[in-house]
Amino acid sequence: MRSVAIDGPSGAGKSTISRAVAGRVGFLYVDTGALYRVVGLRFLRTGELGLDTLDLTMDFRDREQRVYDCGEDVTEEIRRHDVSKAASDCSALPEVRRFLLERQRELARRHDVIMDGRDIGTVVLPDADLKIFLTATPEDRAQRRYEQLGEHAPAFETVLRDIIERDKNDSARALAPLRAAPDAILLDTTGNTFEQSAALIERCIRERFSLS
Ligand code: DC
Repeated sequence: MRSVAIDGPSGAGKSTISRAVAGRVGFLYVDTGALYRVVGLRFLRTGELGLDTLDLTMDFRDREQRVYDCGEDVTEEIRRHDVSKAASDCSALPEVRRFLLERQRELARRHDVIMDGRDIGTVVLPDADLKIFLTATPEDRAQRRYEQLGEHAPAFETVLRDIIERDKNDSARALAPLRAAPDAILLDTTGNTFEQSAALIERCIRERFSLS
């Protein structure tokens, strides 16, 4: 199976770009942040991690990833702004990372994947065929997140402050911190349109796997 790892901080465009490019090249798009978000949502709801009772499942009907906790479809709810912070906090815990690691690897064993996250090229798939590290300035990323949140968005300054805080959280943790793999291609998407970044990544993938 072939694998592409796309890592980088929040709001750099990883998920929208990865999803679109995966469709164009026929790979399965796997959003690993969604798994951490299910854990974060559980924590917000119950005040505990409860990994032993967390029945986290995914499916990919029509190549769209949906996530479930004990059969409840939480795909939309995990996008809530407060879930982002909870997911980031939970993701620093070794038992959470251990719990999710094998699930991610299993998907890459079964499918050609474009997998996005923070530690895909460094920890989850260190032998990925292609690694890309996507970044952009905090202001650019906050603007994108702000637009994504639409009517539910808090003030722009809050989104910016939270993004800077979350970067710090994700980069400073001892375990699998947000970091570019030494063999990753670094791509700064600041000021790019979505299509410019998507086309660039699509070209990298087509070249790497000799796709026409
Ligand atoms: O990509 P996202 O914003 O949906 O991810 C939510 C949080 O999950 C993020 O702040 C850090 C964590 N995460 C992680 O630690 N490792 C990953 N591979 C993906 C996400």
